Order: sequence, then C-alpha cells, then structure tokens
Amino acid sequence: MNKIALKVQQAFETRFGDRPTHLIKAPGRVNLIGEHTDYNGGFVLPLALEEALWIAVRPRKDQAVILHSLDYDDSTEVNLSKPQLHLKGWHEYLSGVIWVLQEENWHLTGWEGVMSGNVPQGAGLSSSAALEIALIRAFSEVSGISWEPILSAKLAQRAESEWVGVNCGIMDQLISACGVYGHTLFIDCRNLDIQQVPLPQGLRLMILDTKTRRGLVDSHYNERHSQCKEASTILGKSLLRDATIFELDDQSTGMESLLYRRAKHVITENERVLQAVDAMYANDHHHLGQLMYDSHKSLRDDFEVSNSSLDAMVECALTAPGCLGARMTGGGFGGCVVALIKAQKEEDFVNCISKCYSNKTNQDPQIISCIPADGASRIDPLTDL
Ligand code: GLA
Repeated sequence: MNKIALKVQQAFETRFGDRPTHLIKAPGRVNLIGEHTDYNGGFVLPLALEEALWIAVRPRKDQAVILHSLDYDDSTEVNLSKPQLHLKGWHEYLSGVIWVLQEENWHLTGWEGVMSGNVPQGAGLSSSAALEIALIRAFSEVSGISWEPILSAKLAQRAESEWVGVNCGIMDQLISACGVYGHTLFIDCRNLDIQQVPLPQGLRLMILDTKTRRGLVDSHYNERHSQCKEASTILGKSLLRDATIFELDDQSTGMESLLYRRAKHVITENERVLQAVDAMYANDHHHLGQLMYDSHKSLRDDFEVSNSSLDAMVECALTAPGCLGARMTGGGFGGCVVALIKAQKEEDFVNCISKCYSNKTNQDPQIISCIPADGASRIDPLTDL
C-alpha cells in the first residue's frame, strides 16, 4: 500500500467528510541522457520515477475547484466560471492548467482534492511537470474527458511556457504522462515518436541529490533557449536538431564562441543519445557509462549549466565501486546527478559516494535507487490500494 496514497485519501476524508472518487498519481522523472535537446527538436532518454505527486479527488456539483496541499499546508479555491488567474507559487500551476484547458475548450467540472508528493522540489526531477500532469489527469477524470497522455503533455508544456513563463521543452511532461515500468523512453522531440527501451539487466540507476537548488534558473534556462535559437538561425536551420557538427565547424568563424559551444553541446548530445540507445540494446554497459560522462563534460564546459556540487558528485561517483558513468540530470544549476552502476555493487557504491561527497562539500547527499515506473495513472480508492 502506498503511504502517500493512503495519506491523501485519509486527509481527504477528514477535510471533506466523504471518500474521494479517484486517486490520481503523476510521477517525477530522471533523464538518463539527452539534456537541453528537447526544445531543439532533438532526442531524450528519460524514465518516470516511483516518486510522484498524488491527488485524492471528488467531483463537485458546482464550478469550484478546491485543492489542499498537505506539503505546503495551504489551500486554494478557483471558480471555473470566473477564474482568478493570477495566483502565485504552486497555485500558479493550477491556474495555468485551468487556463490552457479552457483555451482548448474543455468543459471542466469542479472538484475538491487533497494532494501530497515526494518528488524533491527544485532538484531537476520535474516536480512541476508531475503537478501539471496530475492536475490535467484529475480534470479529465472528473470531467469525463478521455485521458490522452501525449495531448495532455503538450497542454501541460503550454501552461508552463505560456503561463508560468519557463520556455521548457516537452520531455518532462511527456515522460510523466507516458512512462512505462522497467523502461526508458527514447523520444524524438520533433515528431513525438516514442520508443520503449528496457533498462539492461544487471544495472541500477542511482539518483544522487547534491542538495543544491537552482536559484534564478528560469532566466538562465530561457537564455540557453534563445542562444540555441540564435545559433540555429546562423546555421540556416529551423531547429539545431538538423545541424551537423561539420556544418557547425564550417560556420565557426562567423559565430561567437559562446554560441558555437552551445550548439556543439546540442549537436553532440543528440548523437550521444542515439549511441546510448544502441549501447542499451547491445548490452554495452561501459559505452553507455562513458556516454553519460561525456554528456556531463559537455553540459559543464560547453553548455555551462552545471555547478561545483554537481561536478563534485560526478567525480565522486566515478571513483566509487561499480560505477559505469554519471552525469548531471535535468535543467542544471543545482539538483541531482544520475549514476549508472552494476546492480550487485549498490551498497558499496552508496557508502563510498556518501563519504566522498560529504568530505568534499560538508553536505550529506540524498541517494535514491530508482526503477523506471509507469506514467500518470488513476487508482480507485480503497479497492486498488
Ligand atoms: C528542464 C525542462 C526540460 C528540458 C530539461 C533539460 O527539465 O523542463 O524541457 O529542457 O530542463 O534537458
């Protein structure tokens, strides 16, 4: 029985005096490789996590949406026929989702709900995408609209970029909506083709949280986005995904070095994702690990989105027993490293990485061993718990 599911269900009953009709779950994600490629139309290889946001919900007869967050100990109420749309903090996501669904002419039903989650926030594990996807799933369930994961991911991305103001790609919302147990998803972010790629036997993925959190990341993120756009325009491509390293080198004299390095990261990272998929099918653990470290170096040196704690964690991971490769994951400027290790070495790895990281930074890392989980789902209260 999932503890968070039980907690939101019980809190719902206490607060609203009856059982919820649905329990909604939407997971966070970790990206194995393919960073800052999604908004360039490129390739990514993420997986959904067990860590997720849960909402217990019940439709209402009126037009109110009343949502209580156990984690923030805070509530919000929106009237769907007259939404007060400029709210702050986590409320902003609810108003963004209502805005986008009404823009799409969804006929929304009111509901009441209680939510809680265990996706670490600001850690590059997509807690905000989990919230957006959970809210869209909640609206589709109570409003009797069939659940379409890819469409929902597109709408969530639109809410995040046009409402919240972060020009993000589609990766986080797509994996939260479409994740498949035991698999990474190889996604072509231009046409949204999705291929399930099983995680090879004998390997474990570890998430190593540096406990550093991104600061003013949104502006840095949007800045990277514009730099990629500028580089692709100079290269005469609508998306950097279509540029080759030879074309970039041909143009390098006419391009300032910063833009050259940004484009080089994206072009080489796309190539690394393709090679990583081949390495997974070929069971070539060492090549997969090497590609992850190459990705980290490219993000650190060319795309410049790492920080000293992420770098320290990667270096610690690479010297720990059983480690095949490690890299920062997510948008960057803080958060987590993802490491690929041999399954039987998990305990030794954890002991060693904790000591090494604490020695270097005086911080204790949080370590999560992860198995790829399913994407957003609906669970019937009590019966399925
Ligand atoms: C954030 C964005 C994603 C993606 C990653 C970097 O998580 O939301 O769309 O761009 O950063 O790969």
